[in-house]
Amino acid sequence: MDLEKHVEKILWTEQQIFQRVSELASEITQDFTPQTNAPAIVGVATGAFLFLADLVRKIQLPISVDFIRADSYRSGTVSDGNPRIPFDLKVDVEGKHVILVEDIVDTGSTLSCLIDHIKSKGASSISVCTLLDKPARRKVHFELVGKGKYYCGFECPDYFVVGYGMDFAELYRNLPYIGVLKPEMYS
Ligand code: IMP
Repeated sequence: MDLEKHVEKILWTEQQIFQRVSELASEITQDFTPQTNAPAIVGVATGAFLFLADLVRKIQLPISVDFIRADSYRSGTVSDGNPRIPFDLKVDVEGKHVILVEDIVDTGSTLSCLIDHIKSKGASSISVCTLLDKPARRKVHFELVGKGKYYCGFECPDYFVVGYGMDFAELYRNLPYIGVLKPEMYS
């Protein structure tokens, strides 16, 4: 079956994503080059796996890379607003600069929970690098830690999007672009 037939429209092509990820990696490289300790890059599983893989290969610093998981979507397209952390860091982040890498910030509850969690481990700063941000849907305010910065790839309109790591009911993460599914695919 042709996967493209499931997609109503493409919002960002592979080429646009490639270009923007390169820009974000350059910004991070520049911002953290003066620091004595290179940052720990923490991908939020599963949605950030492709973004993380592409981003870290373009960062020109001796970074560490780890994953953390926060589950709030039981199924479908609506968050239950109460993330849990079933999979924690392996890297010790005490006294380190952490950059949390997210696929998309929606209500903000996942990031707020993860920032509190990593702060409690003694990180000296916490930055966020998200590929997409849906500001129209923000419900939970989160604060960066120390001199943490906020990096964002694209502002996302209020659609439920899939591809480049993002899923609907655990499917479509493997699309190389970001798009919106045909309405019948969500039912
Ligand atoms: P938040 O806690 O509401 O900010 O949700 C953040 C998480 O929800 C993201 O890391 C995604 O895994 C998921 N999410 C939010 N919006 C979308 C979407 O449009 N498509 C796919 N996943 C989404």
